[in-house]
Amino acid sequence: MRRLQRNPELAPKIAILISGGGSNMVALIKDMQDRGYAEPSLVISNKALVPGVIKAQQLGVPTEVIPHQAFPKGDGFQEEIHVALVEQRINFICLAGFMQILDAWFVDKWKDRILNIHPSLLPKYKGLNTHQRAIDAGDTEAGCSVHLVTAELDDGPILAQAKVPILKEDTARTLAARVLSEEHKLFPRTLRQYLDG
Ligand code: GRF
Repeated sequence: MRRLQRNPELAPKIAILISGGGSNMVALIKDMQDRGYAEPSLVISNKALVPGVIKAQQLGVPTEVIPHQAFPKGDGFQEEIHVALVEQRINFICLAGFMQILDAWFVDKWKDRILNIHPSLLPKYKGLNTHQRAIDAGDTEAGCSVHLVTAELDDGPILAQAKVPILKEDTARTLAARVLSEEHKLFPRTLRQYLDG
């Protein structure tokens, strides 16, 4: 299996969906490019002019901007993403800071082929503001989770987690930075292991 994946012709094609900075996206692309187990084939952003799009271009990965605002009431937005993925013969999708909730029909079409990174130790703190909520709750540790995406928000089977301590002087910002550097290691490692079966 491993040997087959090193053949660029047979390496699974990965799309990464983003909405912003793209630091997890960069970690994923570099890991795939360095190790050759998968091909970073497409980056889709629902926002134009975000740093992630420029970073992807600098790393030589094709990008597509599909702005959700262009679709009144969201109609057609995810269909457009689906079409772009099919056109590029994508095999797996990584959600790396993609701030849109995927519809059930989309998740169903890509069942077991969408991975998401979430900045909390799921099942704790689904949704937003995870770091502040962990601090407010008096938790002593925080972290991040990579999970398979299902129709329920931040709810699919957890593939891997990494923990960091919460320090007394932490703010949401300092904690987020500590968690983010773990995300950059956890997401590529988990993708690799998942593709390895
Ligand atoms: C990360 O903390 C990720 O867990 C969350 O959004 C943030 C995205 O950061 N879903 P970046 O765009 O990868 O830098």
